[in-house]
Amino acid sequence: MGSINPAEFSKAQDMQQLYRLLEAVGIGPGWNKPEPSLWPAPKKNFQPAHWSYGIGRAALESAGKFVSTELAERRNLILSNPVPGNTYGTARTIVSAYQMVMPHEAARSHRHTPNALRLVVEAAPKTYTVVDGKKIPMLPGDVLLTPNWSWHGHNNESDQCAYWIDFLDAPLVQLLEPMFLEGFPGSFVEKTDVVDQNSPFRFAFEDTRSRLEALPDTQPGKRDLLLGPQSLDTLDLHVWRIEAGASLADKRSTANSVFAVIEGEGTSVINEQEFHWSRGDVFVVPGWNTHAYKADSRSYLLRVTDEPVMKRFNWLRQEA
Ligand SMILES: [Fe+2]
Repeated sequence: MGSINPAEFSKAQDMQQLYRLLEAVGIGPGWNKPEPSLWPAPKKNFQPAHWSYGIGRAALESAGKFVSTELAERRNLILSNPVPGNTYGTARTIVSAYQMVMPHEAARSHRHTPNALRLVVEAAPKTYTVVDGKKIPMLPGDVLLTPNWSWHGHNNESDQCAYWIDFLDAPLVQLLEPMFLEGFPGSFVEKTDVVDQNSPFRFAFEDTRSRLEALPDTQPGKRDLLLGPQSLDTLDLHVWRIEAGASLADKRSTANSVFAVIEGEGTSVINEQEFHWSRGDVFVVPGWNTHAYKADSRSYLLRVTDEPVMKRFNWLRQEA
């Protein structure tokens, strides 16, 4: 920032001279901005979008030939929102990615301030995420949490490739800037023989399915389970069950949501754009977009949402 004698301002003869003086000292006239700073309703910058697991899986198979986990911290494919200029987030606050770990391969242990979770799409027994010194089994449909600063790595001790979908609040952490990342000291993956079948960080799909069985419908043909009690500070995880043939609309909300298909097939209409989805697909409902669903077969959807952040700051608004 430049410096001038304050008396220079009293000499300004017109607005243009004032602007030149302001520019010289690095101060902007709030009344003369190309874009207003505040606006009456959310702009909906991020776009509704859909990614197919068939494509993600084929691309990961190809990456498996060229990219080792020695080379890459993670062999993953980032599902970046197609909004111009964006190269990372799936939504404003959430990024999702397809990841693959090959048989008898590991992905190194590390910890970071972004909160993370993963939904397993394909994995055989003896595929593990190692969280804080314990092996947590990964089976299809399972959701695993690795909260802020917990050590985590992956060990595929099976004979099949393991595929999953990662979700992180990293775009939010990038925005606010409390980013830290650290590699596990001494070994590639934290060494342990302890297998924790009942880890609070694991939501086994068989349990999720039976918990949903016991719940009432929240609207005709839809059940909604909030995964817990273990949770992440910034992201809530819901599993929706939608009956075959059911057609429903959800509230428009300021919260951002990224969905992944655990099981089933159907269609979503997000702000008038239609997306057909099936198992392993991902789609995004950015904040303040309308969204409606129709299931062709009984479907289970994981909804990852920044609602806890919106609630905490009193920014959560919903409209039917
Ligand atoms: Fe990580």
